Amino acid sequence: MTDHGKPSSPQYNPGKGEGSPVGIALLGHGTVGAQVLRLMQEYSDELEHRIGGPLEVKGVAVRNMEKHRDSVPAELLTDDAFGLINRDDVDIVVEVIGGIDYPRELVLAALKAGKSVVTANKALVAAHYQELGDASDESNVDLYFEAAVAAAIPVVGPLRRSLAGDRIKSVMGIVNGTTNFILDGMDSTGADYDEMLAEATRLGYAEADPTADVEGYDAASKAAILASIAFHTPVYASDVHREGITNISPEDIKAARAAGYVIKLLAICERFNNEEGQEVVAARVHPTLVPRSHPLASVSKSFNAIFVEAEAAGRLMFYGNGAGGAPTASAVLGDIVGAARNKVHGGRAPGQSTYANLPIADFGEVYTRYHVDMSVEDRIGVLAEIAKIFTNHGISLRTVRQHQGEDHARLILVTHSAREKDLEDVVEELKQLEAVRGIESVIRLEE
Ligand code: HSE
Repeated sequence: MTDHGKPSSPQYNPGKGEGSPVGIALLGHGTVGAQVLRLMQEYSDELEHRIGGPLEVKGVAVRNMEKHRDSVPAELLTDDAFGLINRDDVDIVVEVIGGIDYPRELVLAALKAGKSVVTANKALVAAHYQELGDASDESNVDLYFEAAVAAAIPVVGPLRRSLAGDRIKSVMGIVNGTTNFILDGMDSTGADYDEMLAEATRLGYAEADPTADVEGYDAASKAAILASIAFHTPVYASDVHREGITNISPEDIKAARAAGYVIKLLAICERFNNEEGQEVVAARVHPTLVPRSHPLASVSKSFNAIFVEAEAAGRLMFYGNGAGGAPTASAVLGDIVGAARNKVHGGRAPGQSTYANLPIADFGEVYTRYHVDMSVEDRIGVLAEIAKIFTNHGISLRTVRQHQGEDHARLILVTHSAREKDLEDVVEELKQLEAVRGIESVIRLEE
């Protein structure tokens, strides 16, 4: 140790000193990368004041140089990403490529070479959280990924820093702009799914392959990252229960509207005690009914909103632009400034904290409310038979509504909070009941 109590490791970053330039390698020049480059150039004077030294872009690595000849200065353009990373004058590597395997190699190479990394890549962070955190610790450099969750909305930073002294109970919200844009459009204009998806793609909200958005993979990666930070536990995308919106029909949207609800794709991360009294964490993404009076119901278009509930802080809400080139670039720029300041003045941002390492609950252990819509025979005793099945599984009903069909009845039940495993058993038994013609939908409900 030195006199100042700092580790004497040769890797310790004492800072380059006030006024020193900070070299940036930009990996990727797509929707986000182009905006990052533009903003770094446009705001260069202000950024220099905020950092204490100028940002200098040393190169922009792309796979196909032809595609970018008109938009990137020739002296910066390269297809040799590893060569760019390893240049001595590069201090920070900014990864905005997307995908997992190739960017993982690049980011690990950068961290091992002692470069700080800023990434917007949620799939990468959610798949290799611990490995990337360990690599940044080993080299004593920064790994920032604010833009990986909800683009412009600062939520990673507040969870890592501002709430570092509190105990977080849950993080819940709308973290995918594309699906919110689609569901909101279907609800408010009556447009169909394909029309809304095409528009989301045109506006640059959707991923290159929109499957990641509409099947919930994008939101699951973000949920994994939020849960990992909030609960000091590595949670991977594969640990997140995931359902997308492709099965949501215009009829579901209409039925929800008629009952005073709106359907949103929610990511829900929680810490709770399971039946055995063990503290566990769970993360899930699925279409959810939200009452129209709920603040999340009014989150429209591609906006995102995230609620954090912490023991001491209570409930906090973060709201804003969760997709698109410039909003995502804003978060990337914020991280670049943070990493660059540390390069100039020394020190490091908080790294990955996974000390709690809590067990991940099975999805069946999770508690929520359910909205069960079914077609049933319209005769005496049917409701009693159905109610008995819920009772046998310890599930309490909160509301029961019946609509008259021509030769059948439509029964809509809303439960009190119940365990997923019990509800699944109930649905299986209901399907066997002669009086039940069909289960139209089972949608979870949050209030
Ligand atoms: N495709 C994402 C979304 C944007 O629609 O929210 C960035 O994560």
